Amino acid sequence: HQGARRRDGDVRITKDERFSRLIRPLTADENQGLRESIEAEGCRDPLVVWKHEGKNILLDGYHRLDICARAKKPYHTVARTFDDAKAAAQWVCRNQESKRNLSPDERADMWWEFAEAFRTKRAKPKQSLTRGRGLKGAKKVFPKRKTSFEPQHTDKHVAKNAHVPVKTASNVKTVRDKGTSDEKAAMRSGEKTSGVIAKDIRKRAKDKRLADERRREAKRRADEMSKSKDVRKKRIERDVEEGDFRKIAAKMPKESVDLIFTDPPYDRKSVPMYGDLAEMGARVLKPGGSLVCYAGHYVVPDIINLITPHLRFWWVLACVHTGRKAQMREYGIKVCWKPMLWFVKGTRARKEDWVDDIVLSEREKDEHGWQQSIVEASYYIENLSPEGGMVFDPFCGGGTTAVVAERLGRRWKTCDEDGESVDMSRGRILNDDWDKPEGS
Ligand SMILES: C[S@@+](CC[C@H](N)C(=O)[O-])C[C@H]1O[C@@H](n2cnc3c(N)ncnc32)[C@H](O)[C@@H]1O
Repeated sequence: HQGARRRDGDVRITKDERFSRLIRPLTADENQGLRESIEAEGCRDPLVVWKHEGKNILLDGYHRLDICARAKKPYHTVARTFDDAKAAAQWVCRNQESKRNLSPDERADMWWEFAEAFRTKRAKPKQSLTRGRGLKGAKKVFPKRKTSFEPQHTDKHVAKNAHVPVKTASNVKTVRDKGTSDEKAAMRSGEKTSGVIAKDIRKRAKDKRLADERRREAKRRADEMSKSKDVRKKRIERDVEEGDFRKIAAKMPKESVDLIFTDPPYDRKSVPMYGDLAEMGARVLKPGGSLVCYAGHYVVPDIINLITPHLRFWWVLACVHTGRKAQMREYGIKVCWKPMLWFVKGTRARKEDWVDDIVLSEREKDEHGWQQSIVEASYYIENLSPEGGMVFDPFCGGGTTAVVAERLGRRWKTCDEDGESVDMSRGRILNDDWDKPEGS
């Protein structure tokens, strides 16, 4: 009790925070009435002090003492004795209840002050002792819990002291512990009840909890996505390989591929590669698997000649391109469609799945100079390979085959001898967001 001392009256009075905090503030009207009465008649009633260890600790009259000090009015005191500070504090609370017209919130607030200032700590139970440890029938001896333990800081206890419902005690506690200073002031001035304010506080806490949960969930999803994007990135880096297709295909297991869907370069000097492509296909394709390759019209006979020693010719497929037509001056032809040659290892698996031999397609050159359309790739990969089957494109270019195979849930592998094409395709496959809703 580090209170200020005054010498205005008959005894030296000590103010003590443990008691002053129990005193409920006066309303503006009450304060004015008291001031006017003291100024007119002086301080009629004695201030109550607790004579303790040679000090006169003020219990009742905090407001009057302040007014007297300011108005330089004398006051007199009456002393009371108590066993201890707690008993004195209890008297302060009861005295206010009897003298003042305190609201239930004010009473509960006051008794919470009391409970917090004079809270009795729960006695820690001593460690249990085992008598005759190791012997049969050993008896555990538990010390008795201290009977002096009084839970003075529970809602129930405060409610009982303040003569208010337990709910009021708990609302007041919520405002005291979690309210803003404005909310505390509103409760103490009676502007709003503890019930209304506590409801706001609980709503705020709930909103915060939900917002925190949403934030945590968003973070968890983002982490998961970046983790799965990482895993995907590694898989894509593994499955889009840089190098000559012959070397790369040599590492692939025999009869592991359902469909080779590819677009080799078909300038005259590259045409012999179709022979190597066919030889490779004969090894890696499953029996009944297909090789579908784009072919320039003018080299169709050469390509068929190079491939048929290894795979059986099955059909010619046509991609009809809309839009501007290429012109082949040396042949005098405006090119309206592009052939795709279809070969099979043995005889075609799943003949019962009918496919059309013509696809209406559109030009696409967004990513790669030789890029083929996603349209025919989607149609033939979907129809000529089983779900989860393996699709291989030895001439990756812009990665159209891999993009489509990934979208269709096929396993896939691709390669290109050109590093730039490999990098570009990896990025295109990784960032392909075709299945995301618009605007996401
Ligand atoms: C016509 S492009 C493929 C275009 C692809 N279909 C698309 O839609 O983007 C042919 C690709 O084969 C690659 N290539 C040529 N010879 C190769 C070889 N021996 N091994 C691997 N890739 C090769 C070229 O670098 C080129 O990117």
